[in-house]
Amino acid sequence: MTRQNQHVAVIIVAAGSGQRMGQHTARPKQYQPIASVPVLSRTISAFLTSNSVDIVLPVISSDHQSLFDELAIEHPKLASPILGGSERQASVFNGLKALSTAEQKPDIVLIHDAARPFVANKTIDECIDAAIQFGGALPALPVTDTLKQVGSSGLVHRTLDRSLHFLAQTPQTFQFDAIFDAHQAATTAATVFTDDASIAEWAGMNVKVIEGDPDNFKITIPADFQRAEMALSQQMETRVGSGFDVHAFEQGDHVTLGGIQIPHIAKLKGHSDADVGLHTLTDALYGAMADGDIGQHFPPSEMEWHQADSAIFLEHAVSRLKDRGGRLVHLDLTLICEAPKIGPHCEKMRQRIAQIAEVSMSRVSVKATTTEQLGFTGRKEGIAAQAAVTIEVPVKE
Ligand code: CTP
Ligand code: MG
Repeated sequence: MTRQNQHVAVIIVAAGSGQRMGQHTARPKQYQPIASVPVLSRTISAFLTSNSVDIVLPVISSDHQSLFDELAIEHPKLASPILGGSERQASVFNGLKALSTAEQKPDIVLIHDAARPFVANKTIDECIDAAIQFGGALPALPVTDTLKQVGSSGLVHRTLDRSLHFLAQTPQTFQFDAIFDAHQAATTAATVFTDDASIAEWAGMNVKVIEGDPDNFKITIPADFQRAEMALSQQMETRVGSGFDVHAFEQGDHVTLGGIQIPHIAKLKGHSDADVGLHTLTDALYGAMADGDIGQHFPPSEMEWHQADSAIFLEHAVSRLKDRGGRLVHLDLTLICEAPKIGPHCEKMRQRIAQIAEVSMSRVSVKATTTEQLGFTGRKEGIAAQAAVTIEVPVKE
């Protein structure tokens, strides 16, 4: 039997309340973002992108339904979430029950903690292969420190042979029928089991240990969020994009620039509100992502964008950046014109741009220059703008 001809399901248990995280995070840990992307979104997409997986079933708490909906993940492999129980064991069992009555019952099931967002494809595949061969598979890390057994008095009892001990991770992976039966039987056992490999062991199944991955750690205590940010920042690269745009003046009484209105003896001509500043920043951001330009995303031929507020263009580019797990570091806009005078309005523009781009004002620069009365800006025929935008994005290749 090979991985390819097996129907493979994943249960992601996310119904916990994160007691050990305390009040450290604004949201429950599984909904807290790491570099803008929530933990659970990262965990789910790690499995959605695996070629070996056919269906992903999240198990959530009834208190978190709206937080889950906010993740807004849509994918043909993603099943609607079901509700968990008061213990992890009950949450897993609910997931197994749901899969047992699914249209296609799985052959193999991976059971994974939502709080482990950094699971690698290699681990997923090795777990599936070992579960096919042995019945059950457990990714685990060897113990590197000397291992002591300590009595309740706090005194060392004895030293254990560390080569015989491992730290259990997830996804713990099993032949479906066997683990479903084991879980069913375990509901009447005296013990509450903290992982599925212990239930398999209790039921007499074989569980093969495969090499775990130190990066696949579980976010449990506040310091784990710092570790996660750190792990990700090492996989981020910095990119700079540039933008340039020009709009001509026509008859009017104000210009829209950098998201604000400035009284003037003319207005800027364009399909949208002709905010040359926001257009330039938007193009610089698309440029940094190598994601086309403003005309491609918002064709001037479409009436929808007629007189549109240009904030929607910049918001769109920022949301594309967030979707790919990126971060906006800095925006620098230069407006080139003789009139209107830009200086008195710079702070307000910075404030508005920061608001649209969802960054702090300290990351936004707006400055202006003239062209010494030379050229079309010197003749007051229009306004030109140029921008540089710095971003951080996950390294893809
Ligand atoms: N979990 C679950 N249902 C429960 C308890 C835990 O689905 N009743 C899930 C958690 O959401 C988590 C995984 O099991 O993704 C591993 O559990 P753990 O790290 O212990 O998370 P919490 O139980 O939320 O945290 P704590 O033990 O600190 O309260
Ligand atoms: Mg717990």
